[in-house]
Amino acid sequence: MSTPENSPLAAVILAAGKGTRMKSRLAKVLHPVLGRPLLIRLLETLRTLHVQPQVVVVGYQGEEVQEVCRQFDPHITFAQQTEQRGSGHAAQMALPVLEDFSGRVLILSGDMPLLDAQLLSQLVETSQRGDEDLTLLSANSPQHRDFGRIVRDAQGRVERIQEAKDCSPQEYALTEVNLGAYCAKAQFLRQFLPRLEANNAQGEFYITDLVALARQNGLRVGALVTDKIECALGVNSRLDLATVSATLKERYLERLMLQGVSILDPTSTWIEDSVQIGPDCVIWPGTVLCGQTTIASGCQIGPNTQITDSQVGPDCQIAHSVLLQAQVEEGVKIGPFAYLRPGAKIGPQAKVGDFVEIKNSTIGRGAKVPHLSYIGDSSVGAGTNIGCGTITCNYDGRAKHRTIIGEKVFIGSNSSLVAPVQIGDGATTGAGAVVTRDVPPHSVVVGVPARPLPPKN
Ligand code: UD1
Ligand code: CA
Repeated sequence: MSTPENSPLAAVILAAGKGTRMKSRLAKVLHPVLGRPLLIRLLETLRTLHVQPQVVVVGYQGEEVQEVCRQFDPHITFAQQTEQRGSGHAAQMALPVLEDFSGRVLILSGDMPLLDAQLLSQLVETSQRGDEDLTLLSANSPQHRDFGRIVRDAQGRVERIQEAKDCSPQEYALTEVNLGAYCAKAQFLRQFLPRLEANNAQGEFYITDLVALARQNGLRVGALVTDKIECALGVNSRLDLATVSATLKERYLERLMLQGVSILDPTSTWIEDSVQIGPDCVIWPGTVLCGQTTIASGCQIGPNTQITDSQVGPDCQIAHSVLLQAQVEEGVKIGPFAYLRPGAKIGPQAKVGDFVEIKNSTIGRGAKVPHLSYIGDSSVGAGTNIGCGTITCNYDGRAKHRTIIGEKVFIGSNSSLVAPVQIGDGATTGAGAVVTRDVPPHSVVVGVPARPLPPKN
């Protein structure tokens, strides 16, 4: 849903606060929820609404916040709030950017990652329909005791918002609360934001005081009362962060299950919503899937497996293993207890077994590295078998070197392949061989250092 072309919509996102209640060195809006920063989640939602301009008010750790926003969208505009003097003061900082803007402005907190596009569209529509100068989003919730209360007059019209800390006992008992998202005419903001005062318990300029100001000046104020309070929950503490992450995760796991993915134990499974999973995959308990990961159909993943920024082809089985920036083609068996590091490329039908580490290496079609091996900076040809305990010695203390192993090679158990070295197609190394020189195709080498097997006499 987007607003009609003829009524331009801007957004001001308040993200200058330190987020004291997070007790963190990191700015609150940069804390990840299900893998992506709080603020980015909100910007993603705004992107679907075609809002222009988008002004992010930054302050605490402003450089870092700007950098993260710019990476997401270079067209975002920033306003600086050098001293954190309240949400109203933060909104004032955005006014210069909106100088020539006529239309409506969404004012949102950067700490509301669950806000959805539909709810925001409804807020804008409410504002347009009633030709309101200021429209707020509220909900009836006796649970949210530290939210601002909506105070209505005898006719039931919104009169003002009272912050919990400033409430009288009667006001404190009110259950309609301010969710902290507003839609206002730009003209109204230009006129009234500069008139806010800081005479309240916290000595801050509250954006919420705009409501009373508007009413006192005979302007139109409205409220969209939503029953989707879970979409408007702000993150103030790490407890909220966990709650919001859980909500997002639940939603995504549900979607995956409806798309044909079996998730055997959703509560013990963590899947970020950037991860794509094909149908007929079975996700076992204790699985963690992160970042730009794709998993094709028919895979068995887990239990206890962590996959980050990796691509997995169809019909693979991966148990008790860790994959980071790895590529796995179809029908591969991995684990238990394998570690695939950046640049690991595993060919179709290959096997990477228990206690095997693979880094920056290609394993050919149908090749097997079944147990206790380190394969680094190497290529292993199709159909080759790497015996138990084999090590590619890629580092000589100064530089890394490559090991090239051909097709249908048989590497004996406990071989050490001292790079740079090449093993030709069809060659064999004996158990315990320390290979320091290239091995010609179809030959057999044994011993320490490895030498061609003497001809039988
Ligand atoms: C705010 C509302 C409250 C509402 C609640 C809903 C005010 C005064 N109160 O309270 O009525 O129920 O949200 O979640 O707005 N910020 C700045 N600069 C500042 C201060 C704050 O940029 O100087 C930003 C924060 O980064 C945050 C937003 O403004 O994104 C709201 O501030 P916060 O302190 O979280 O307000 P709440 O106490 O949650
Ligand atoms: Ca808040």
